[in-house]
Amino acid sequence: MNFQNLPNEVTVIEVGPRDGLQNEKTILKTEDKVEFISKLAKAGLKEIEATSFVRADKIPQMGDAEKLFTEVLNIQGVNFPCLVPNLKGLEKALAVGVKEIAVFSATSETFNKKNINASIDESLERITAVCEEAKKHGLKIRGYVSTAFGCPYEGETSIDKLIEVTKQLLKLGAYEVSIGDTIGVATPIQVQFVVNKLLTHFKKDQLALHFHDTRGMALSNILTALTLGIHKFDSSAGGLGGCPYAKGATGNVATEDLVYLLNSLGINSHIDLDKLAHASEFILEKLNRKTSSKYLQAYLNSK
Ligand code: HMG
Ligand code: MG
Repeated sequence: MNFQNLPNEVTVIEVGPRDGLQNEKTILKTEDKVEFISKLAKAGLKEIEATSFVRADKIPQMGDAEKLFTEVLNIQGVNFPCLVPNLKGLEKALAVGVKEIAVFSATSETFNKKNINASIDESLERITAVCEEAKKHGLKIRGYVSTAFGCPYEGETSIDKLIEVTKQLLKLGAYEVSIGDTIGVATPIQVQFVVNKLLTHFKKDQLALHFHDTRGMALSNILTALTLGIHKFDSSAGGLGGCPYAKGATGNVATEDLVYLLNSLGINSHIDLDKLAHASEFILEKLNRKTSSKYLQAYLNSK
């Protein structure tokens, strides 16, 4: 592995309040989520995915999206992208002053259908309408492509489909697309292959990577991507997370473990690990959950 071309800085997109919490059965009070987000901001996170404007009967934890967003708006100096699946979601997001949305599709027809009740083409039609409207309101748009490294229903997925959907999202106005390992099946050699292929079509700045750590490979995958110059990663405080439509998938890579790795490589993320651990401890206590983050476990054991 060649450590010569590592980036000097990495942008960490904290997805804990959305991806981290969306699968949790204990429905938290909005004020606790707001406190969590406020603590994450104090730890230095500048990109925090706050919530999603989806059907509350499908994702009950996100049922307070409007109320939550109204409260986090007071936190200064942070972008709060929110997941929006369709025009209905956008309407709700606009009503409470959302400035950045995240639109999402996948490389797998079966996953997409289960996740958002749409084929890939149908989802791109919905996203087209959402992006047109969002641009009229001056919103920033982030894209996601799920199941980029494998699907819980279809197994192996197509790299050509990944390139096609990513291209489409960028064309529709996304400033970057987050490539999702929804079920945490990716391995370093696959990451090297996929990233190298993506870099023949897209610039590094247009890509972020989103690893779930189901099989413990997320940090190895991130290290591989770093050596290829990728410098934007999604992660979740304490390693919370999972998608209800990806059975067996566990949390996102823990932000603590990611930052510890970045620090060890001399890569700046501007995140304070102690304050981050404090934010995770707070929310894990509310959920009555143990962390999957190795760093956080060590930190808590040494207290
Ligand atoms: P649908 O049922 O196909 O929508 O849902 P519809 O247009 O047929 O409408 C049916 C009803 O839902 C109507 O209500 C609509 O008003 C309502 P009724 O008239 O029957 O009373 N409705 C809505 N309500 C609130 N917010 C909305 C909305 N849209 C319609 N936005 C929909 C389609 C996508 C909304 C639904 O399937 C849904 O909410 N799915 C949940 C998707 C989700 O949040 N998944 C998890 C996030 S994605 C993820 O985790 C992956 C990621 O992390 C990357 C990775 O790891 O790979 C991003
Ligand atoms: Mg995810």
